[in-house]
Amino acid sequence: MHKQYIKMLVCPSCHKELEWHIQEENEERIINGKACCSSCNSEYEVKDEIGVFLTSELSRNDLWDQGESALEKFFNENTEIYNKLMNTPEEELNGADYWYKATYFEMRRDFATSSKMFKNAFKKIYTEDYINGWDSQMDFVIKNLQGEEPIIDIATGKGYLVEKILTETKNYVVVTDFSPTILLRNKEYYRAKGLYQRLSLIAFDARKTPFRGNSIVNLTSNMGLQNIDQPGDVVKELNRITKDKFMAVMFFIDKEDKKHMDLFKECGNTAYATKENAIETFKNSGWQIEICNSFLANIKPTPESEIIEGAGIDGFPIEDTEVEFCVIKARKQENLEPSVCKKISSFEEIINFEASKLREILAEVSKIDIVKASMGASPQVNQLLRDAVEDIDFNKERTEIGSVRIAEVENIHDKMVALINSRL
Ligand SMILES: C[S@@+](CC[C@H](N)C(=O)[O-])C[C@H]1O[C@@H](n2cnc3c(N)ncnc32)[C@H](O)[C@@H]1O
Repeated sequence: MHKQYIKMLVCPSCHKELEWHIQEENEERIINGKACCSSCNSEYEVKDEIGVFLTSELSRNDLWDQGESALEKFFNENTEIYNKLMNTPEEELNGADYWYKATYFEMRRDFATSSKMFKNAFKKIYTEDYINGWDSQMDFVIKNLQGEEPIIDIATGKGYLVEKILTETKNYVVVTDFSPTILLRNKEYYRAKGLYQRLSLIAFDARKTPFRGNSIVNLTSNMGLQNIDQPGDVVKELNRITKDKFMAVMFFIDKEDKKHMDLFKECGNTAYATKENAIETFKNSGWQIEICNSFLANIKPTPESEIIEGAGIDGFPIEDTEVEFCVIKARKQENLEPSVCKKISSFEEIINFEASKLREILAEVSKIDIVKASMGASPQVNQLLRDAVEDIDFNKERTEIGSVRIAEVENIHDKMVALINSRL
């Protein structure tokens, strides 16, 4: 871990200062050491250059740890399957089998072979749309990085985005994940690729990070948020540590896609499943967001292995569907409260309100006036009104009202602005 990050780190449990006891270091990095919280006495360590800031109170489903060792054990116990995987010509392997073969070479730390295989396997597993949609988001993030400040990447996994950043920019990067196993793999991988010099590795849970409030200028995540089980208030935590901007590569299912929505429900992660849900989740956690670089992609279920029984790749999608890839560009809205409390000067500015806050105020307005107000409003404000006042059937009411003069709509807007301002 580069020493420059010491000043950005606090105790992930209580956010108090850390006392550092460095046991081994070189000019740039801490190699081995301890950081003790001056308040709650929790201890964290830097081991072989990897900072480990995990807390005990959060559950952890480390698929990497289980996956790698389980696969190794499986191959040792099933040599005929191992032999078939190794001896079948590569062009005859389906995407999943090719992926498992690549994983084997990665386990052996033969990164030159595994990288080439993963690249080819990717093309067999994912649709062209999926690959292009995802790639274009990573390019967008890189174009929008700010200055020379280090980039902190959340839930980095194998780090497709990080690899591009290190290759295409001069920035320092911190890869983070709650799995020390994957960080260890990353350390060796990036060393082998000659990209380790500007890289630091810190293990922590994105729901409880060890960063000081307002300390990060460039925060990124590449499909990380949607991979967090029970994400809870993760974007609130990311809002706490960000000084300015967070860019998250995401994909969304359509809100009418019930089958996949049920799948996300099963994983307890619906907060980022659709664009509408993600917008609401980010807004409620103090972010002002822009959905950028939208790319609609047709995607297909990933293949099952033909050699290793029951081994698949991704649990999503379960049938052909269309998803929207994009980057959520989120800016910290200094103190969200003022946006709820600040006076508004036009009806459209209600877009900054949470639906629940609006619901309270609109309880004082007649149903017919709410519907008429919606008739002169933008689609975004219309959606907000529908979310805020769920018991109005806007389509039915509009048909009954027919047409309304603009002057009347404007008059209602003015009255509602005055009412809202009087209640803030
Ligand atoms: C599939 S990867 C995302 C892709 C990756 N960012 C990339 O650029 O290649 C998801 C990673 O999130 C990590 N993860 C899951 N839950 C987490 C959490 N609560 N905190 C930190 N990392 C988490 C997993 O260990 C996994 O490595």
